[in-house]
Amino acid sequence: METRKALCDALASGPVSGPDLAEELGVSRNAVWKQVEELRESGFEIESTDAGYRVVSVPEFCGSAVEYGLDAPYEIEYHEAIDSTNARARELAKAGAGRVAVLAGEQTAGRGRLERAWSAPSGGIYLSIVLRPTMTPMQAPLLTLAGAVATTRALREAGVDAGIKWPNDILLASSGEKLVGILTEMEGEADRVSWVVCGIGVNANVDAAALPEGATSVREQVGDIDRRVFTQRLLEEFTTLRADPDAILDRWREHALTLGQRVRVETGAGDVVGRALDIESPGRLVIGTDEGEVRVHAGDCEHLRPV
Ligand code: BTN
Repeated sequence: METRKALCDALASGPVSGPDLAEELGVSRNAVWKQVEELRESGFEIESTDAGYRVVSVPEFCGSAVEYGLDAPYEIEYHEAIDSTNARARELAKAGAGRVAVLAGEQTAGRGRLERAWSAPSGGIYLSIVLRPTMTPMQAPLLTLAGAVATTRALREAGVDAGIKWPNDILLASSGEKLVGILTEMEGEADRVSWVVCGIGVNANVDAAALPEGATSVREQVGDIDRRVFTQRLLEEFTTLRADPDAILDRWREHALTLGQRVRVETGAGDVVGRALDIESPGRLVIGTDEGEVRVHAGDCEHLRPV
């Protein structure tokens, strides 16, 4: 997969000859030829010209299609259908992988927060990014916020009026219907994260009728999108945010629907009701209640109508 990613990178910047590719990738010319054949088999149209290999067209949605022209350091493991991209990403993370993203167009046993099932019909974008960040487990929720911001930006670029409900649901701003869910899982010790899997499920090119009540899809709002380009934009935005962790909270505030709203947050210690005032690192919501400010780390958040 590593050579394939490097080959996609090289081909994306124009025609390039077999010998030049072999030198650039540090492999034999035969290995280059084999990889090019594999790309052709996966649906790439690649011409052999005097100037070298030239990509004429890219398949709609698969691992190499997303890697082609991707300005982010991830190899993509693609499955047309899989039980859960998070389950697969966890396996890879436990085996030592990093900088890989598992991508699927359908999940048969998608997992949601709080042990719930996540409905993931064919046509969606189900993405689990494996990360090995240098941070403490306490700081890891920042990565989920970054995932939410990156996905919201990609949705807005696609013309969908999306915003974030604390902590990391992405909703259609006008109706509050859910477009995206995020499930982050991790392993580590008290002072050091070993790996994080950030799992993002986008209701993309699916009929709303195939989704649970209260959910909508990109298809329903603006029509079908190019899932390849959307996934690339998401991964690129995510990479930009990771490079500037101090900016994540500000970007989250800019894309949030929750701030300023009356909310009820169900926490393990009971419900907190009040006005959502702010977010604090690494993801605590500050709620102004009749008894003063309360800070919540996690929980189910409901936007209430103003009284
Ligand atoms: C939620 O809102 O409850 C979170 C849903 C997270 C769903 C995504 S889809 C990709 C990844 N794989 C899974 O099994 N779950 C996450």
